[in-house]
Amino acid sequence: MSTARLSVDPAFVVGPVRERTFGSFVEHLGRCVYTGIYEPEHPTSDEHGFRTDVLDLVSELGTSTVRYPGGNFVSGYRWEDGVGPKGQRPSRLDLAWHSTDPNTFGVDEFMAWTAKAGVEPMMAVNLGTRGIQEALDLLEYTNVPGGTALSDARRANGAQDPYKIKMWCLGNEMDGPWQIGHKTAEEYGRLAAETARAMRMIDPDLELVACGSSNSTMPTFGAWESTVLEHTYRHVDLISAHVYYYEDDGDLSSFLASAANMDYFIDSVAATADAVRAAGKHNKAINISFDEWNVWYQKRAESRPPSGDEWPVAPVLLEDKYNVADAVVVGNLLISLLRHTDRVHSASLAQLVNVIAPIMTEPGGRAWRQTTFHPFALTARHARGEVLQVAVDAPVLETDKYGPVDQVDAVATRDPETGSVSLFLVNRSLSEETHVQMDLRALGDLRVDNCVTLSNPDHTWSATADDATSVLPRRNDSAGVSDGAVNVNLPPVSWTMVTLV
Ligand code: AHR
Repeated sequence: MSTARLSVDPAFVVGPVRERTFGSFVEHLGRCVYTGIYEPEHPTSDEHGFRTDVLDLVSELGTSTVRYPGGNFVSGYRWEDGVGPKGQRPSRLDLAWHSTDPNTFGVDEFMAWTAKAGVEPMMAVNLGTRGIQEALDLLEYTNVPGGTALSDARRANGAQDPYKIKMWCLGNEMDGPWQIGHKTAEEYGRLAAETARAMRMIDPDLELVACGSSNSTMPTFGAWESTVLEHTYRHVDLISAHVYYYEDDGDLSSFLASAANMDYFIDSVAATADAVRAAGKHNKAINISFDEWNVWYQKRAESRPPSGDEWPVAPVLLEDKYNVADAVVVGNLLISLLRHTDRVHSASLAQLVNVIAPIMTEPGGRAWRQTTFHPFALTARHARGEVLQVAVDAPVLETDKYGPVDQVDAVATRDPETGSVSLFLVNRSLSEETHVQMDLRALGDLRVDNCVTLSNPDHTWSATADDATSVLPRRNDSAGVSDGAVNVNLPPVSWTMVTLV
């Protein structure tokens, strides 16, 4: 067994734990909306057609903000198709996912769903096939109290009060050649700046997100952020980051070190934003909305959209089954997001239901939790107060993709009111148990309240509708406080949470 020594001090605060770090994403893609969150015929559905079994799981997951309606879908979306009497709504081809959208779920249904789920909406506008006017129309529909054509249309459709949506994404992944209406950084930067400027004429207090890179291996990464921010700096608050290329492609060591790459991504975007800030003599900082992140097995058959003459409604798409190692990586990516809470002000696990998701459903049937559900739910529930810097002195592992990484990665949060501390840890070793010793002396007199670990001798175990509970985070009895330190043993390929009071 190896040993890792951690130190924390309440004086070294990175920033507040942000509710919005625990956001998620609902796209019109596959079965995320239809037979995911919305299925009027389902036995548990409410008067809106929302699956209440799914709503219960969303609440247990602890998700805060939900981004909608895409994703690649938004770049061809006409939001007007999804409002008004359902019988009069048109079915449309969704070019992004080679599907048909019946438009029985739209902006009003989404807003009713967010109210019921108790989550904050984050709305994206189409800057692929559409532009400033359509973004303004949607904003008028959602946020103007009444007395105008579109705000009165909303009222006629049943929503008397404006939705007051605060966070808006100015398009989606506009750097990606796959995107409908893909643009150069110059083209997108100008359009995003003008859209933002016009939207602020309606509501100056919006929080606006410009599109950053679709991942840090894009050929335009860095230059894209720089050019886009040169155009938009004064008009936006956040720049987005997306990443999915974390998968176990046979190199499990590198996969378990994926968070090292997320650290690099965040640091690079923050540095680029700060360089634009300096060159432009701006006062405010631009922060990051990490509004799509997850493990995604993109080469698997379930990620291939339909083709040819097939344009199905709600096909099975991107329905990845996550195993224990995937959950450890998801837990570690959350550690990275929290560690960067000074610059990551919002994040969305993509996506919420069925599509690369922590929650799965059967049409007409059961809903269950994937392995990735657990580290997310526990972190969302127990990360409280402020994020503290953690100094890690651990054995170093060599990885092919990301070079040398610490065998143990960790982040700590502390509630300044109560002094209670939560510690989130991963052991990235494939074979070695690690003994962690965390120096507690600067944190006062604390005892272990709870310690749970997610691991399994077979890290390829996945949950199914028939068995979603054989492998769950389990009590880790090795945790205890002695001589001013927390001691805990971490099995190989594991995620652990220790709470101290
Ligand atoms: O989340 C799946 C897809 O991944 C989204 O539609 C897109 O934005 C990203 O490429």
